[in-house]
Amino acid sequence: NMMGNDGMTGNGGPMGHGTTQAIEASDEPEQSLPIPSPLKPDRVTDSTVYYTVVADEGTSRFFQNGKSTETLGYNGNLLGPMLELPKGKTVVIDTINRLDEPTTFHWHGLVIPAEMDGGPHQAIAAGDRAQVRLDIDQEPSTLWFHPHPMGATAEQVYKGLAGLLYVTDDAQSGLPNDYGVDDIPLIVQDRLFTKDGELDYDAHMNVDGTTGDTILANGAINTTFDVQTETLRVRLVNGSNARDFDFTLSNGENMTQIAADGGLLEQPVSLKTISLTPGERAEVLIDFSEIEDDVALEADGVSFTTFRVGELDKASIDIPTSKKTPTPVNTKTDRQLTLFGMGNMVSINGDTYDPDRIDIKVKQGDTEIWEIENKPDMMGGMTHPFHIHGVQFRIISRDGNPPADYEKGWKDTVAVAPDERVKIELTFTETGTFMYHCHILEHEENGMMGQLNVTE
Ligand code: C2O
Ligand code: CU
Ligand code: CU
Repeated sequence: NMMGNDGMTGNGGPMGHGTTQAIEASDEPEQSLPIPSPLKPDRVTDSTVYYTVVADEGTSRFFQNGKSTETLGYNGNLLGPMLELPKGKTVVIDTINRLDEPTTFHWHGLVIPAEMDGGPHQAIAAGDRAQVRLDIDQEPSTLWFHPHPMGATAEQVYKGLAGLLYVTDDAQSGLPNDYGVDDIPLIVQDRLFTKDGELDYDAHMNVDGTTGDTILANGAINTTFDVQTETLRVRLVNGSNARDFDFTLSNGENMTQIAADGGLLEQPVSLKTISLTPGERAEVLIDFSEIEDDVALEADGVSFTTFRVGELDKASIDIPTSKKTPTPVNTKTDRQLTLFGMGNMVSINGDTYDPDRIDIKVKQGDTEIWEIENKPDMMGGMTHPFHIHGVQFRIISRDGNPPADYEKGWKDTVAVAPDERVKIELTFTETGTFMYHCHILEHEENGMMGQLNVTE
């Protein structure tokens, strides 16, 4: 498997402010899994859905002993609602910043023009608002939104800003899609709390990615979910600042992965372990038809959400697939990107982020093959989850071999392990200046980010 940050346990590096925390099972009492509420549109017309999303401060109760925690949330105290984005429609979102500092609203995974993308250039001052128009034209998928202001992305996400975007399509059927019943999201994050129950970003910040010992699922500790149907669709989002997760079931059974970041896999894959680096998503089906006891979902071997199995409704599942002719593995590379370093000393092609420098220029409609290399350093290096805005891409090879079946689908974030070379194929359909960066949010803050300009 890919070398994750777990290999770094106890080592903040020579420049580290903190250490990578091991995940620990929590002894908090169980509570039922919160399901982010679907956001009610302000208005719906034949062509357009109107939403309002507000970034605000709040307080959350993670612990039953009465400690409450200062958090950030969209339209609430923590995380955010689920926004349905119907394929073929226009979605207009009024975004409002009620924080006491600038933020942005970034739609991770959406293929839209750069001026709507909510990258660092689209900062909204404290108290201000802005409107975006998003024409939804991509495969049904589980995307997410989060802040992206330069210098404060990692802290704002850590304190709770993250929400769900579901691209939906009436034509897609056969899969469980009763939201909150047989189709549930799981935003998984690790957090470290102070004795007072606070999320103290400054105290716990680690230049290689801030980690915690406690797992949150949809913002809650030690959750349970009552399974009502034989097949449960779980949309896993790694919303951590830095931690890679290996997800397994406590009974050792397989899960069926059906989708990657940007849509369905070419074919479903049965897997014991689903590995996600920060920013990545996977949709899985869990079959409870033969199961009578409770089963827990584990992250790195630690149970964090228990599925309670009672009387189950029969499910009839028909899994659609998305066959695509593979691009040959040895296709010539148009562009080489070298990821390097750790901590404060991270770079892409030797450079750190400069808002005044365009690193890559392409034309709208162009298709390119990029080779992303993770050049190891003396200490071995670490896995970088490489993310590109404004596109969904295909992985065509890892170290010269075709990708695994679970990576054969649209992706917007790809894990690149030390000494590995990953080739991807991308087509630029939207114009403007987009970011590409490491999705360890502290690496992004430290400048492991570049700018891609797409012109007409
Ligand atoms: Cu998930 Cu540049 O972001
Ligand atoms: Cu993004
Ligand atoms: Cu990185």
